[in-house]
Amino acid sequence: MKKILVTGGAGYIGSHTVVELAQAGYEPIIIDNFSNSQESALAGIQAILGREVPCHRIDCGDAEALRQVFKAEGTIDGVIHFAAFKAVGESVQKPLAYFHNNVGSLVTLLQVMQEVGATNLVFSSSCTVYGVPDALPVTEATPTKPANSPYGRTKQMCEDIVHDAAAAPDNKVHTILLRYFNPIGAHDSAKIGELPLGVPNNLVPFITQTAAGIREKLTINGDDYDTPDGTNVRDYIHVVDLAKAHIAAVQRLLDRKASEVVETFNVGTGHGNTVLEVVQTFEKASGQKLNYSIGPRRPGDVPAIYADATKAAEVLGFKTTTSLYDSLASAWKWQQTLGK
Ligand code: UFG
Repeated sequence: MKKILVTGGAGYIGSHTVVELAQAGYEPIIIDNFSNSQESALAGIQAILGREVPCHRIDCGDAEALRQVFKAEGTIDGVIHFAAFKAVGESVQKPLAYFHNNVGSLVTLLQVMQEVGATNLVFSSSCTVYGVPDALPVTEATPTKPANSPYGRTKQMCEDIVHDAAAAPDNKVHTILLRYFNPIGAHDSAKIGELPLGVPNNLVPFITQTAAGIREKLTINGDDYDTPDGTNVRDYIHVVDLAKAHIAAVQRLLDRKASEVVETFNVGTGHGNTVLEVVQTFEKASGQKLNYSIGPRRPGDVPAIYADATKAAEVLGFKTTTSLYDSLASAWKWQQTLGK
């Protein structure tokens, strides 16, 4: 079995990817410092798989600790690097923490991978690297624009670091950069899902918490954008679909099929939905009426963005299969499980 190290493997996307890896016949090994994830994710993974997945409780910015993990685990066939801070608003408040954690941990990881001879990396990038795009949908060739937040900038810097490291004469690391659009929903079993700490920043956990009575009402951040109903357009991808894109990327690296040392893929559905469409679809999927009102625009929001998903389909053989309705139904099922 091929061993795949998953940094941030107890987090939202990480935990779903660990499950998909194991079910696809890989041997996932988790690294997590639990700064923004919870031990209960490990129990959820175990409940789904019927076995424990090994977890090293270390910070992947700690080079010595990383070396010890590689030493203890023997040959690591691939690394998926999720571990990072991810809240756009928080990154404006704490930019240095974001640069230190997100950029620092990638540099450390790449250095240690070079040292120990690990050669395959999948990196979590984001559609935030596109900034405010001139045309939609965005393809991988769409030029990146200035990021709207320090968070987005860390993802742009990390992509640059990967490219520069790959261009070095002694480089042996092959990387696939996956640019995620908006992950939502939870595992069908409702044993793992998103666990936002405090008041959620993101739309879907805010919606489900409002429907559950934890929040009084959802405020929609502006309805005066140049979009079909005036609210922002995003590409919402089910988290299990997103997890599966990592399996395709890992397999491509292992098969040495990549055409370049660094390849980039959008991972989205290829469809845009407005915030109001998400709210209305949630109401149908959950049978709950949602209390919401229109508020002002949120600083830093891009009016509209969605993926051109052609390259991932043609090259990775990856296509999403879960509808917005089913994604929101899974988010609601997970919220109800959390309430119990
Ligand atoms: N929104 C509301 N009300 C809310 C929360 C969100 O109207 O209470 C709107 C936002 O204004 C936006 C849409 O819902 O139009 C989606 O917002 P999210 O905060 O869920 O996600 P973003 O589109 O801001 O996504 C950003 C980055 C991603 C990153 C993600 C993680 O684009 O790359 O944040 O936090 F992964």
